[in-house]
Amino acid sequence: MKISIGCDHIVTEIKDHLVKYLEARGHEVTDNGTYDKKRTHYPVYGVKTAKKVADGDADLGIVLCGTGVGITISANKLKGIRAALVEDVEAARYAREKLNANVLGIGGRIVGIGLIERIVDAFLETEYEPSAENEQTNQQIDAFLAGKDPAQDERLFDDLIEKWNRGEYADR
Ligand code: RB5
Repeated sequence: MKISIGCDHIVTEIKDHLVKYLEARGHEVTDNGTYDKKRTHYPVYGVKTAKKVADGDADLGIVLCGTGVGITISANKLKGIRAALVEDVEAARYAREKLNANVLGIGGRIVGIGLIERIVDAFLETEYEPSAENEQTNQQIDAFLAGKDPAQDERLFDDLIEKWNRGEYADR
């Protein structure tokens, strides 16, 4: 798999560890930096990393900063990017399987390295399930980009809410 990865200066050593971890497992990794501990700003690396995914130069992306929050939000500003901030294995699987997340966000000061490896494994191993329900949800999320505003269109999710009301949706 082609993986695009990037981080800010707070967690460079964790990103470097993941580059080696992924390469040892046969992945082709593009390391977008940063490369040292000199102060930088996470949006630069969030966008740089996500752009490779958005442009089709990488299959999936991984972005890391101290909390993971700033760099994940930055990555999400690109069209076609669905970045998920994940702190456990279950959420990593959910993000891929249901929401077709294509960038994994990690807080290197929040999550320990052992768990980070398991989260990365789960994110890369899990495939998106393009069921009618998942497709519908994701198309509706994408519809926001096309100018639909859920605050103006309260009926946008009626189909899904009816489904939940009929007990046909299992919350996770
Ligand atoms: C450092 O800039 C720190 O604020 C950053 O790594 C991150 O935690 C933001 O979400």
